[in-house]
Amino acid sequence: MKNQENFILAIESSCDDTSAAVLCNKKVLSNVVATQEIHKKYGGVVPELASRAHQQNIVPVVHQALAQANIDKKQLSAIAFTRGPGLMGSLLVGTSFAKSLALGLNIPLIEVNHMQAHILAHFIEDEAQKAPKFPFLGMTISGGHTQIVLVKDYFDMEILGETLDDAVGEAFDKSAKLLGLPYPGGPLVDKHAKLGDEKAFEFPKPKVPGLNFSFSGLKTSILYFIQKKTKENPEFINKNIDDICASIQFTILEILMDKLKLAVEQTGIKQIAIGGGVAANSGIRDRLENAKNKLGWTTYIPKFAYCTDNAAMIGIVGYLKFLEGDFAKQNVAAKARYKISNSY
Ligand code: KG4
Ligand code: ZN
Repeated sequence: MKNQENFILAIESSCDDTSAAVLCNKKVLSNVVATQEIHKKYGGVVPELASRAHQQNIVPVVHQALAQANIDKKQLSAIAFTRGPGLMGSLLVGTSFAKSLALGLNIPLIEVNHMQAHILAHFIEDEAQKAPKFPFLGMTISGGHTQIVLVKDYFDMEILGETLDDAVGEAFDKSAKLLGLPYPGGPLVDKHAKLGDEKAFEFPKPKVPGLNFSFSGLKTSILYFIQKKTKENPEFINKNIDDICASIQFTILEILMDKLKLAVEQTGIKQIAIGGGVAANSGIRDRLENAKNKLGWTTYIPKFAYCTDNAAMIGIVGYLKFLEGDFAKQNVAAKARYKISNSY
């Protein structure tokens, strides 16, 4: 199977992006993502609306992925889908769709852990990225996740630390909301931060032992800070938006980098591979670039399209499992909570 062309259709529907991709072995032929705009006006993902939007999007998104790849569904070798973790209503749509299509086409069905997929996205063959070597430390940072993982092999991963409350993307988005910025605010905080002074204001860093994270305290301290300052001067946010964003971003990046440094210290591994939507942040990219020279780290950031939620990353896991003949049964069920370490 390794030397022939295997076409994998992959489906991702764990949160608010409906995505389908077609891979030929490790190469991506298409990767279509329908982002659900409906959540913008609510300032966050509304699970029931996400599930309904997936139902509307899934058929056209799969059609488009096959058309862009120029592949007929009869040519498909297998169908991979996100089994979890994620929002149950959202996962159910992709899971039922993948199961029915695999049954109809009489081809193997492959279940994929979304968190493994964020990490294995590094192994997609693409000239814009290169694959890390085992063992490495994976850090997945997005609106839904914050995790540091020891990756010993494709399917041998161990969580070293994760968030105890909000994800780092949520910390960006919720801070942005307090400043009156639209959802998702992460990219806007990044944009303002580039123009501001990161030492202008000081926010406390949480004292969480080991490699776990916590971001809810930061959000509360920003809330109190904004309330106090706008009471003194109603124009405070407008006048200081760049400095506030730079200071918030600085604090969040300090938290991430402190934990990464600790993980390197504890494991002796200096290969760092990051992923997730927050990997787009210009500050984290700068810091990782600096760490190459200053700390001797080797760092990997996948192409942005493979950082945010996408089906191509589900497809690469699908292909790796396909090679091992690791197929799911038709009675496989979606799993809202699904640990990275017990899915192999
Ligand atoms: O991976 P993703 O698309 O979806 C989730 O699984 O959540 O990540 C989206 C998150 C949002 O919280 C968004 O604000 C954040 O990634 N994000 C950023 C930047 N671009 C996206 N956060 C900080 N700086 C950015 N440039
Ligand atoms: Zn994700």
